[in-house]
Amino acid sequence: MQRVFSGIQPSGIPTLGNYLGAIRNWVKIQDNHDCLWCVVDLHAITVWQDPAVLRQQSLEMAAVLLACGVDPAKHILFLQSAVRAHAQLAWIFNCVARLGWLNRMTQFKDKAGKDRENVSSGLYVYPNLMAADIHAYHATRVPVGDDQRQHLELANDIAQKFNHDYGVDFFPNIEPVILGAGARVMSLRDGTKKMSKSDPSDQSRINLNDNADTIALKIRRAKTDPLPLPFDVQELAERPEARNLVGIYAALTDSDHASVLKEHGGQGFGPFKNALTMLLIEKLAPIASETQRLLSDQEALINLLRVGAERAAVIADPIVKEAERLVGFVGLRGD
Ligand code: TYM
Repeated sequence: MQRVFSGIQPSGIPTLGNYLGAIRNWVKIQDNHDCLWCVVDLHAITVWQDPAVLRQQSLEMAAVLLACGVDPAKHILFLQSAVRAHAQLAWIFNCVARLGWLNRMTQFKDKAGKDRENVSSGLYVYPNLMAADIHAYHATRVPVGDDQRQHLELANDIAQKFNHDYGVDFFPNIEPVILGAGARVMSLRDGTKKMSKSDPSDQSRINLNDNADTIALKIRRAKTDPLPLPFDVQELAERPEARNLVGIYAALTDSDHASVLKEHGGQGFGPFKNALTMLLIEKLAPIASETQRLLSDQEALINLLRVGAERAAVIADPIVKEAERLVGFVGLRGD
């Protein structure tokens, strides 16, 4: 069976984008794969995190994943910092990846913005750690949203260079799994920008813990245009906000843009937004209440994550040890 790995940063409440682009697909892929689901706290500190908030958000993220249907008995759910193999392999990959490759990463350019000289060096080598996350388990399938595509290409470049430099066939090629209408959920305020936990405007996103009133208000205020919904998908091309709302509807109903327009084409945004609000509340309310229930017993949650980390380390440690042997370390560490 192919091994699956994916991760999510505990840098805020997960958004509808995280849910539709990633988490929902994680739950689906669990049926016929061995999966590792990781809350990537090492990645989170590439930008400043208040320590107490990071601790709380890491547990909250784990609770949200469980509430969405991640199965910690059949699969493995853990915190990245609890398995040292990630940092160990990332260092080797820092020495394999080329500066020129990192310079091409659009996410770094977006995140660093104009303040490039002042961001952490961790933010720059972030994709190397991400490659290590996956390759430490010899995982071959990675379910993500569309924004991670370039990082996964880099992970393959790193694997190929490692294999070539050391004359081995050790790290396998990985295949991104980027599915359906939810692969790129955009901001509710600007249909050309990604919906993101870090957007300064809370109105730009639906958070997975928003209550029904908040969801209704955010959808009512979501930017649209004056035209009714078209009948033809082509006509969404120049209408990013309309395209986004139709895409969200499609993802939530497991359909596609064309089927949604078949049902709602010709409608004004008023009735369509009402239908979308109902759908969102129906899907998200159970997640929010289950998350709260899980967080009310933090000890159980921590125990579950501890077991997850132990099981993850059993897979990753021998792989990273072999990578260390291949690069020429004498290997006196006793693990
Ligand atoms: P992160 O925490 O930004 O996002 C987690 C997942 O959610 C997806 N996503 C979206 N999908 C659709 N529309 C959106 N607006 C949207 N926003 C976020 C992301 O594509 C991602 O799948 N670098 C990663 C975490 C990571 C990782 C890994 C992923 C670390 N190591 C190894 C896969 C494999 C990140 O920052 O995701």
